[in-house]
Amino acid sequence: MNIGVITVSDRAFRGEYQDKGGPAALAYLKARLDYDGGIEYHSRCVPDDEAQLELAVQELSRAAQCCLIVTTGGTGLGARDITPQTTERMCQGMVVPGFGEAMRAASLRLGVKTAILSRAVAAVFEKRSLIINLPGSPNAIAECMDAVVDVVPHAVHHMV
Ligand code: MTE
Repeated sequence: MNIGVITVSDRAFRGEYQDKGGPAALAYLKARLDYDGGIEYHSRCVPDDEAQLELAVQELSRAAQCCLIVTTGGTGLGARDITPQTTERMCQGMVVPGFGEAMRAASLRLGVKTAILSRAVAAVFEKRSLIINLPGSPNAIAECMDAVVDVVPHAVHHMV
């Protein structure tokens, strides 16, 4: 099974800051997901740019055959934040609202008031890949993923 992680950040892409969200997502998934045949991970870093995010998703889904693609960053209200709307557009209506709802609710229960600022969604791309958006903050990775990780194998299995 193949899994992709995409960091969406202008600054990380330009090397102006060290990407922490991508490695945090990778470490989280490695610790929490298990698959009999083994899991191969693919990481990418793109700027906050619709076309480049779209290309990375297409490549990870079509060529690398990733059944799960986790993005980190670009879900807020910033002028350059384009991750959720790009995900929704690419997935043509196949949004799974419960993921975003559960992640925000769990984060708010933890007392993270700014969780409400994330527009993160999950959606299915070309009937093949579940895309889950996460905020860019490394803390947010576990806070959000803890709310949904148990259903990820189930969700991926349902798409086959
Ligand atoms: N959710 C959790 N669980 N933990 C966090 O630290 N950060 C918030 C929010 N969601 C955060 C969170 C903040 S400060 C912002 S601005 C939004 O996610 C969007 O973050 P992004 O633009 O990096 O995607």
